[in-house]
Amino acid sequence: MLSRIWPSVILHARSPYPSLASTLIARRTVIIPGPIEVTDEVLYANAHPSVSHMSADFAAVFGESIRMTRDVVRTTTAQPFLISGSGTLGWDQESATMALETYGAQVDQLRAEFGGTVDVAQVEQALRSKKYKIVTITHVDTSTGVLSDPRLVAEAVKRLSPDTLVVLDAVCAVASEDIQMDGWGIDVVITASQKGLGAPRASAAMKVFETRSKPVTAFYASWKRWLPIMKAYESGSAAYFATPPVNLIRAYHESLSQINKASPTLDERLRMHRETSARIKVAATELGLRQLATLPEIAANGMTALWCPDGVKSSELVPAFLQRGVVVAGGLGTRKGTHFRPRPYPPPHCPHMGITAINSERGDVDRIIDVLREVISEATSRR
Ligand SMILES: Cc1ncc(COP(=O)(O)O)c(C=O)c1O
Repeated sequence: MLSRIWPSVILHARSPYPSLASTLIARRTVIIPGPIEVTDEVLYANAHPSVSHMSADFAAVFGESIRMTRDVVRTTTAQPFLISGSGTLGWDQESATMALETYGAQVDQLRAEFGGTVDVAQVEQALRSKKYKIVTITHVDTSTGVLSDPRLVAEAVKRLSPDTLVVLDAVCAVASEDIQMDGWGIDVVITASQKGLGAPRASAAMKVFETRSKPVTAFYASWKRWLPIMKAYESGSAAYFATPPVNLIRAYHESLSQINKASPTLDERLRMHRETSARIKVAATELGLRQLATLPEIAANGMTALWCPDGVKSSELVPAFLQRGVVVAGGLGTRKGTHFRPRPYPPPHCPHMGITAINSERGDVDRIIDVLREVISEATSRR
C-alpha cells in the first residue's frame, strides 16, 4: 500500500523528510468534505523549508497563485484574495465589506425542501418585492450534496435587479463543478483551502466596496487592507499587512499548477468528476441506498450524501468505514444521524482536488465502492 501512494523510488529520491513517510503507515483514505486527499507533490510543497514571505522567490509563487486562481473560476477580471483562514473567513470578509446580518444587514432567506433547491421563480418574486444589495447562493450544499444552478439565479438577478451583487459560496464546489464567474455574471466567489479565498469581480463588487460610505467594520478581514498586498504580490513584489501562510501558499500553488496543466484540462477534470460521481451513485443505488438530493440533476458531482438504510444510524456506519481505512463524515443537519456522506472526493480546498476522482491508479473509487458494499451489507444483515 505504501508503494501505491508513494512509490519507494520517488520517496528515496525526493524525500528529505523521513518523518513524513513514516506517517503513511497509518494512512487512510479520507473522503470527508475537507481536508481531502492531496497529491504527493502538494504534500512536498507543504513541507518546503521556511522562506521569507518578503522574498522575491515567494512573491513569484504568490503572484502566480493569484493569477491561476482566476482560471479555476473562469474569470479574467476578478481580484482574488488569498488570505489565511478557513472558508468562513471568506464570508467574514464579504460580510464585513458588504455588511450582512452579523454586521447589521436585514436578510431574507429563501428555503428549499430538504434535498431540493430554491426555485428560480422564488428568487424572481423576491427580487420584484424589494431592492436587495446582495443575493447569495450556496453552489453545493455540503450537508445534503445538493447542487444549485448559480447561472440561472445570476441571470434572474441581472435581469430584474442589475445593481444587486451575486455572491457564490463555492467552498464545496470549486474545481469539481463548473463555475463561470465572468460568463454567468457572478460578482464574488468564496472558497477555501485552509485559507479564505474570495474573488470579487473588478467591475461590480469592487466598485461597491470602493464606494462604501461607511468604513469597513473589520480589521483582518477587510479587503481594503488586503487589496494592496494582492496587487503587490501579483506584480512580483512582496508587501506586508499580516504574515501569509507561506507553505500553504506553496501547496496551493502546486495544486493550481496541476489543475491548470494542459492535461487533463479543467473541462476534462470536471468530466472525470461527473463520471466518478456517477459510478458511486450507481453503486449506492444498486445497494438500495437513496440520495438526499431529490433529483439526479441537482446532485453534486464532488460528493454524495446518502440516507442510511432503514433502521441503521450513521453513528454505526462511520466507525465501520473507519475500521476498513476509509474516513467518511456522519450526517449533519435537521435529521442528524440518519444520513452519511461518502465523497468521491475532490473539491473546494484543493483546486487540484480531484485526485480521488481523477487518478484511477490510486484505486480510491474502487475502494470506496467495495467498502460501501461491505459496510452496508454488514449493517443490514444485523437489523
Ligand atoms: C458550502 C460551505 N460553505 C462554507 C463552509 C465553511 O468553510 P470552513 O469550514 O473552511 O470555514 C463550508 C464548510 O465545509 C461549506 O461546506
